[in-house]
Amino acid sequence: METRYYDTYASWKADPEAFWAEAAKEINWFTPPTRTFNPDDGVYGRWFEGATCNTCYNCIDRHVEAGHGDRKALFYDSPVTGQRRAYTFAEMQIEVGALAAVLRAQGLDKGDRVIVYMPMVPQAIFAMLAAARLGAIHSVVFGGFAARELATRIDDAKPKLILSASCGIETNRIVPYKPLLDEAIALAESKPQRCIILQRKEHRCTLTSQRDLDYEEAVKPAIATGQKTECVPVAATDPLYILYTSGTTGQPKGVVRDNGGHMVALKWTMEHHYGVKPGEVFWAASDVGWVVGHSYICYGPLLHGCGTVLYEGKPVGTPDAGAFWRVIQDNGVAALFTAPTAFRAVKKEDPKGALVADYDLSTFRTLFLAGERADPDTIRWAEEKLDRPVIDHWWQTETGWPMAGNPVGLGQLPVKPGSPGVAMPGFDIQVLDDAGKPVEPGTLGNIVCKLPLPPSSFPTLWNAEARFRKAYFEEFPGYYATSDAGIVDEDGYVFIMARTDDIINVAGHRLSTGAMEEVLSSHEDIAECAVIGVADSMKGQLPLGFFVPNDGVERDEAELEKELVALVRARIGPVAAFKTAIEVKRLPKTRSGKVLRGTMQKIADAEDWKMPAAIDDPEILKEISVALTARGFGRMNS
Ligand code: COA
Ligand code: AMP
Repeated sequence: METRYYDTYASWKADPEAFWAEAAKEINWFTPPTRTFNPDDGVYGRWFEGATCNTCYNCIDRHVEAGHGDRKALFYDSPVTGQRRAYTFAEMQIEVGALAAVLRAQGLDKGDRVIVYMPMVPQAIFAMLAAARLGAIHSVVFGGFAARELATRIDDAKPKLILSASCGIETNRIVPYKPLLDEAIALAESKPQRCIILQRKEHRCTLTSQRDLDYEEAVKPAIATGQKTECVPVAATDPLYILYTSGTTGQPKGVVRDNGGHMVALKWTMEHHYGVKPGEVFWAASDVGWVVGHSYICYGPLLHGCGTVLYEGKPVGTPDAGAFWRVIQDNGVAALFTAPTAFRAVKKEDPKGALVADYDLSTFRTLFLAGERADPDTIRWAEEKLDRPVIDHWWQTETGWPMAGNPVGLGQLPVKPGSPGVAMPGFDIQVLDDAGKPVEPGTLGNIVCKLPLPPSSFPTLWNAEARFRKAYFEEFPGYYATSDAGIVDEDGYVFIMARTDDIINVAGHRLSTGAMEEVLSSHEDIAECAVIGVADSMKGQLPLGFFVPNDGVERDEAELEKELVALVRARIGPVAAFKTAIEVKRLPKTRSGKVLRGTMQKIADAEDWKMPAAIDDPEILKEISVALTARGFGRMNS
């Protein structure tokens, strides 16, 4: 099929308001917008002012009202518990309506916050939708974070209620959530009024305090008495959720997503970017704790009337590297979206892709990859083994949907290996040098988007408007700074090369090395430290720490390293995947005292590097090389 991408992009560029006004017709508004875009509101304008709507209504009720109540909406597939269960839109309406009634009875109201700290169980999706139904604001916290990270989010969002579960299940262990939740609440200054806990039979917890309520005990009577709870109208510009993401300090950024623009943009992507139709099954193999989980496990597919797969398992080990193909077959998946690291894990265990042939993949059309750089080898391997298009696309928590991609729904463009594609309508992607001047096509620079940002993009950071302006809009006035460095070539293909801040990408998870440094430097024996991201063939990057002990500290390096690794796991969580810390006598710095993390990373990755002109003492880099080589990283600079 000939692509309609170029015409579509041009029509957006010619009249962005008309473009989004047309897309907004796909949403059921209670009151339609009085204005598609108001450039004078907010930092860069606001979308769909004057409109009232409800996201849960658009995800569930309207499909039931349209006669699709019997259509499958949610496919829970959990190899770690041996369960599979599908919920129709009508069943979702009952579950979500009843939970919303329980939440309301517990005092949750429009604009109140509710934290969802749950594993990949259907109740996590019900919780998000029930909050949306009431006009409350949810904040989902990924289960791999430690109690302290949860506490930080509790103190920032100040939730009235928390929904959690007794445990999560990893391939190698059960993760009891309740002790983490209790510890987080003890650490936090802001205390929730109530916690609603889902008891899982794999590991039950004790509900001791007056604060805790059993999920089933509360929801079952609400279902039995048919409590449905009507959808509360909210302004299109009201927040739907807050999702915390790593920033350059230990304080995560609370990305705010509004209701109206989010629905319009996501609905548009389902047909035009992902090329799926209502009634088909979409599977994002991610976690509800990440933005991919918000947009494409929960909201996008349901808004479009698709079935969505909620997979509680891994690409390998549950039970083997054929798991993805089994889930596609058993749930009739049309499109799969995951991170390249998942495919690298599969490829490592089944390099020949022999297990693909064991399953019927006849419903499956397209594989989408995002979250980290997709290396051309992995893309080629997936294309060859699956014999289907493999589409990379680039996006961020801040936008909630792809900024660049290859819109198969509009007609697939040729793939350029190493590029996640071209700018999506809504995004005017440009590359600027450090002085803010546009560079020639094909030249590396700072990737920015000309303002305004399109619907679904964050209007602010929760409780942090000044940080919002400073982090994203001050360096390049008139543009949104993505903090990614890269290239746009003469055909408009974007290439994402690196982050310009301290964020690293570990197994598709966005982590701050600055936050890890804060943890290391809190150890009483540590004088100085640095954390960098080093290349890893499976996870893309892994964190690597350097530490300088305090003067007079005579401790065994291995013992200190063990303590530091345990400290990061306890403070940030296992998801940080922090496993290595190397002792050095001193850190390389510029004459103005800036640690040369970039050069250390190049040495660790055995890339070519040049002695920085502003270095204080060149000898120190030699010491770093020696220390890295001794631990199997990098090589000496000849
Ligand atoms: N709750 C508790 N712990 C969790 C967790 C959760 N929800 N998720 C991960 N962890 C733990 C893991 O068990 C692991 O612990 P360990 O150090 O004891 O082994 C640690 O956090 C690191 O997890 P991860 O980086 O995911 O590594 P892994 O070896 O468990 O799995 C992959 C590696 C590649 C299989 C997995 O990361 C994956 O499937 N990634 C692709 C999909 C994805 O999640 N993308 C994100 C955005 S699209
Ligand atoms: P997150 O906000 O967690 O989705 O992470 C966003 C960051 O992940 C981006 O700023 C990029 O650095 C990286 N990223 C996401 N998708 C891609 C991609 N397709 N190619 C390269 N990097 C990506």
